[in-house]
Formats: sequence, C-alpha cells, structure tokens
Amino acid sequence: MAKRIGILTSGGDCSGLNATIRAITLRAIQHYGWEVFGILKGTSGLIRRPLEYIPLTVTQCDQGMVRSAGTILGSTTKENPFFFPSEDGLRVDRSDDAIEGYNDLKLDAIIAIGGDGSMRINSKLAKKGGMNLVCIPKTIDNDLAETELSIGYSTAVSVAVEALDRLQPTAASHDRVMILEVMGRDAGHIALSAGIAGGADVILIPEIPYNIESICQQIQNISKTGRNHSLIVVSEAVKTLADSSVLQGKSHNEMPRYGGVSQYLCAELEKRINADTRATILGHVQRGSQPNAQDRILATAFGVKAVDMVAAQDFGKMVIWQNNQLKSVPIESTIDIYSTVDPKGLLIQTAKGIGIYVGDL
Ligand code: F6P
Repeated sequence: MAKRIGILTSGGDCSGLNATIRAITLRAIQHYGWEVFGILKGTSGLIRRPLEYIPLTVTQCDQGMVRSAGTILGSTTKENPFFFPSEDGLRVDRSDDAIEGYNDLKLDAIIAIGGDGSMRINSKLAKKGGMNLVCIPKTIDNDLAETELSIGYSTAVSVAVEALDRLQPTAASHDRVMILEVMGRDAGHIALSAGIAGGADVILIPEIPYNIESICQQIQNISKTGRNHSLIVVSEAVKTLADSSVLQGKSHNEMPRYGGVSQYLCAELEKRINADTRATILGHVQRGSQPNAQDRILATAFGVKAVDMVAAQDFGKMVIWQNNQLKSVPIESTIDIYSTVDPKGLLIQTAKGIGIYVGDL
C-alpha cells in the first residue's frame, strides 16, 4: 500500500524551506509513489477544523520552488498545540486535536522542518500521539547541536555580507564607523562568519565579553594607519556595559525580541571617541531572501534523506549534516544542547589571526 506523508514548516521561517518541501515531494512521489500532504501553519493545520492542508504534486513543486523565499505552507511561532490560543484569549491544550487530525488524514508519517523550539513541541506531540516523525533542521541561528549546518543559515550570512559590502563604500565616503547588527539570538555564528567574510574590524558575539575601550582603541589604531572608516558587526543578543540585552519586548511565544544594541554602541562610540557612527539593524531581511546555492543543496539533500528515513521507518530522528555526510540522530540529542560559537574555535582564531577584535577572551 502506498504511504501518505505530511510535511509541515514550523517556527520562524528562513530561506530554503520551499526547496526542502520540493525535494521531499519529488522524492516521495517519484521514487516511492507515495501521496504527500502539505500541512498549513505548522501543526495548526492539524488542529483547525476543517483540517488545513494541501495535496502536493510534482507539477506544483517545479524549479521555481528551489529558488523561492518563505514557505508555501506558512508557519507559526505562536500556536503551540499544548498551549494553543483560544477565542476567549486563553491558552488551551489542543494536542489531542492535532493527533486526531494526523489520524483523520491517515498519515503514515510527518516530516517537520523546524528549529529547536518546534522540534521540542513536535517531538512531544509525536510521542503522545504515536505519530511517526522525522525532523529536518532549519534556523538562521545555526544553533542546533549535532548538525554543522541548518537550512537558512548560509543565506542569512550571505545577506549580512552583502550588507557589509554596501556599508563599506559609504563608510569610506563619509569617514564613518558603520555598525551592522545581525540576528542569531544567543549564538554568534552569523555575526562571526559575516564579519570575517565582510571585512569587519570588530565582531561582537554573545559568547565573548567585550571591552568598549578596546573597541575605541581598535578604531583609533585603524585611523592611525590612514584608513578613515571601520566596520563593526554585532550580534543582536550582545549585552550593554550594564550587562543587559537591548530588547523590543517579547514575542507571542514569550521569547525575547532583540534589537537595538547597535544603536547603543553607536552612542557609546560617539561619546567616547567622537566617531561619526551609524547603526544598521538588518533584521528579517536575513530570513526572506532567495536561498543561496549552499542552502538549496542542503535543503535538497535533507529532503531526500528525510523521505528515505520514513521509508526505513527511522522515526523520532532528525537528519543532520556532519563531515560532509548525512546522518540521522535522535531528535532530543539536537535540542538538549545549544550550539554556540566556541571561543577557542577555528573561526575565532581566524578572526583574531588577521587582527579583528572579537572581544576579550
Ligand atoms: O531564531 C531565528 C530568529 O530569526 C532569531 O535570529 C531572531 O532573534 C528571532 O528569530 C526573531 O523572531 P521573530 O520573527 O519572532 O521576530
């Protein structure tokens, strides 16, 4: 009997989700002859009645999908099935409805594309309902353990590098210090990689404390060499000198909403060394770009492998990228440990090796 599988995307979106959906659909239909349903808005499509899903076809998953941004299935960060918003403004447990939805659709398995938060929720739901689950890692933050790469990260870095490419000429024209603030939550991977690739003079990440005097010194030293401008990349969760994060409040899922540490640093540098400084907060443009080649390749490889894992009944697992190999590991092992930048790691040594200030180790 042909299988029927569901695909869902949950948590914050990123580049490469549609390429993943395409790869899963093509592999499942063309190679195995299965049916594929796209569940809309994460697990919410299984909770709402009538059920919200679309049958996915080979025709629909054409080449346009490999290059498109966003997710054709939609996503959510605020509709946790165990804590689902109700019409009266309260939160209720709708996990039984999601499980019923899975059974009503007669799904043999679900492939969920998500980050740590949604992996945790989807895994809990699958265990409760006896649902067959395979996960694919996506997050621009690249902070999932076990996998060296998650979908969306490489594109986010490319976008940040492109921003630095555009900031540097205007910095040079106006003798300015340009500060670029990038996303990443508590992991400084985007800032570190983009900073190295984009020619930053200072890279600040949450994993390493910094000294404002050292930053001032770095800028002044650069001026003494005759260069009239400099570039700083700061990760959004870097703290102020008072050891607090700069927040814009909280998201619907109670996660902190970062934003503004670049403006804080801008004011500090102007005050301390009278540098003409400007801040750019890159924000969600890091998530909404066309996927770059690496993310398209990763998405396609993950998609094919995830379907093969369903065929092999390798459930409760996540596909990961390690040493140029695809492997499957228990979902728990990828979310219990948070993968941050190693302060003694290769890229920190690389940055320091060419004189970039990366904080005080
Ligand atoms: O986790 C991905 C991420 O883009 C973080 O880098 C960022 O802090 C956060 O999501 C933004 O979330 P939201 O889209 O809810 O503002």
